[in-house]
Amino acid sequence: SDYETILIERHDAVTLIRLNRPQALNALNSQVLAELIDAFAAYDADPAQRCLVLTGSEKAFAAGADIKEMSSQGFADMYAGNFFAGWERVTATRKPWIAAVAGYALGGGCEVAMMADFIIAADSAKFGQPEIKLGVSPGMGGSQRLTRAVGKAKAMEMCLTGRMMDAAEAERSGLVARVVPAAELIDEALKTASSIAAMPPLAAIANKEMVNAAFETGLATGILFERRLFHGLFGTEDQSEGMAAFVEKRPGVWTGR
Ligand code: HXC
Repeated sequence: SDYETILIERHDAVTLIRLNRPQALNALNSQVLAELIDAFAAYDADPAQRCLVLTGSEKAFAAGADIKEMSSQGFADMYAGNFFAGWERVTATRKPWIAAVAGYALGGGCEVAMMADFIIAADSAKFGQPEIKLGVSPGMGGSQRLTRAVGKAKAMEMCLTGRMMDAAEAERSGLVARVVPAAELIDEALKTASSIAAMPPLAAIANKEMVNAAFETGLATGILFERRLFHGLFGTEDQSEGMAAFVEKRPGVWTGR
C-alpha cells in the first residue's frame, strides 16, 4: 500500500491497522484521516476481511488531533473546510472494528477510540479530553460519546479539568470492554477480532447496527428496529446453516448470504 502514516497487516480475516507517526505520538493530521478513510473503506468492501483492529504504539494510541496543524487556523478555515467531518466516513464502517489502546488516548485520540465498536485497553492506557487547556473543546464526538459511555459526572469532570482516566477507572466506568496486560494487547485484540471474524458476517453487521440504534432512538423504536432486523436474518442462508449446525452438533459453515 502507499500509506505513509498507517501500517496495515492482514491476519487471516482480520485487518490490523497501526497508526504510525511515532515522532508526534500518532497525532491525527489530515493525512492520517485521509489514509484511514481509504483503509476503512477498503476493509468494508473486502468480503474476505471480517473484523478490524485499530491500534497505536506502546506509548500512544494517539495524543490527539495534530495541534501544530490546527494552531494557525481560524473559524472560517475550520468552518469552510468542515474540519473533522471526514471522521464520519470512518464511523460509517458497517463491519465490526475494535480499538486496541495502549498509552495515551487524548483529545482526538480518545474520540477515535470511542468511534470503535468497543475498546480493549492495555493496563498502560490513559484516556482524556484535555482540549480545554488549548482553549477549545472536543471536536470529533468526545463530548457526546464520552458522556454516553461514562455518564455526565465523569465526562463533565474530564472535559472541564482535562484530567486523564487510567485503564482501571476506564473499565469500571464502562468506557472500555476489557483491560489486558500491555504486553498482550495486540494478541488479545487479534484473538477477540478473530472470534468475531468467525461469526456469520451478516449477523455481525445486524448486531452492530442494532446496538448502535440504542444511542439514536427511544426504547420502543429501538426494540422494533431490533425485531425487524432479527426477523430479516431469517431470510439468510447463514441462519438456516447456523441452526442446522447446532442441531447436528457440528460447526457452521458461513456463506455470508
Ligand atoms: C501535535 C504532538 C501532539 C499533538 C504530542 N505531539 N501530541 N504534536 N499534536 N496532539 C508531539 C510533541 O510536540 C513532541 O514533538 C512529540 O509529539 C512528543 O511529545 P512530548 O510532549 O515530548 O512527549 P511527553 O513529554 O511524553 O508528553 C506526552 C503527552 C504530551 C502528555 C501526550 O505530548 C501532550 O500533552 N500532548 C498533547 C495532548 C493534547 O492536548 N491532545 C489534544 C489535542 S486537541 P517534538 O517535535 O517537540 O518532539 C484535539 C482536539 C480535537 O485532539 C478537537 C478540537 C480541536
